[in-house]
Amino acid sequence: MGFCRWLFAVTPETKPRRARAHWRRRSQWLAVSTFALLASAKTVFAEQGAELSLQRIGSGNPVAGKQKSADERCQECHGEDGNSGDVRIPSHAGQYAGYLVKQLSDFKSGARSHEIMNVMAADLTQEDMADIAAYFASQKVMRGDRIADNPLAKNLFVNGDAARDLPACASCHGENGKGKIADNVIYPVIGGQRRVYLRSQLTNWKLGERKNSPEAVMNKVAKSLNDDELNALVEYLSGL
Ligand code: HEC
Ligand code: HEC
Repeated sequence: MGFCRWLFAVTPETKPRRARAHWRRRSQWLAVSTFALLASAKTVFAEQGAELSLQRIGSGNPVAGKQKSADERCQECHGEDGNSGDVRIPSHAGQYAGYLVKQLSDFKSGARSHEIMNVMAADLTQEDMADIAAYFASQKVMRGDRIADNPLAKNLFVNGDAARDLPACASCHGENGKGKIADNVIYPVIGGQRRVYLRSQLTNWKLGERKNSPEAVMNKVAKSLNDDELNALVEYLSGL
């Protein structure tokens, strides 16, 4: 009998004993194969999960990073678990490690300037940066209090504005601004980021005082926002 016919065979009522044996073998086969299928699906999902968290955490050592970020006093400003208690200081919790390392390298080289951070990054090695970034990236991703009901900002965030060639923020920064990696570009988490920090960055991009984004993409985006839109986006994003 072909395998499919065996599996789906209708029990021949005229031969109850053979039928019972057939049912038994068939249920056993189904149980074993369902188990095997579930087990392999679990492995695949676990591997996908591991791959995703590796993407977020990068190659650094989060355990060493926890100690280093305490010793280097990063936690004093950015929070023990990467959630900053000050609206002017960015959170790093769940931020992509690759993005954090890029910013630290940019502070170190001067490609991004900030009085405090240029000093803080000055004597970090590549390994320190990777470890500290891995620690913050491995924390539960930052999250706002979701109070902002803001149609102007939401529309710009989700749809952009084709009339002035403004792409949707979400097309790069992902759903709810939780960031993503695509074609080797890291789009940072901005949803749930601290409010005053967001305003200062959008303003700096707009004025050209921060200019370290790939192909100046964020300068173009911020320049096409008027002040009302910029403020609305800040309120909206910090709540996500
Ligand atoms: C005295 C407070 C203070 C300390 C200490 C400090 N930071 Fe910062 N950090 C800031 C502020 C303020 C900013 C925002 C800079 C800006 O406005 O451009 C910042 C920005 C950053 C950013 C950029 C974040 C982003 O989303 O782009 C990174 C990464 C960072 N800090 C990492 C560190 C690390 C690592 C340490 C420890 C070696 C550290 N910081 C220590 C205050 C601090
Ligand atoms: C075409 C892709 C793209 C679009 C569209 C885009 N961004 Fe960005 N954005 C980026 C990239 C890439 C970076 C990281 C720059 C870097 O590496 O320094 C960034 C960085 C930022 C940052 C700095 C985050 C931090 O922690 O310092 C903010 C804030 C931001 N974007 C807000 C927005 C808002 C608001 C919109 C929509 C109005 C938007 N972005 C649209 C690509 C984009």
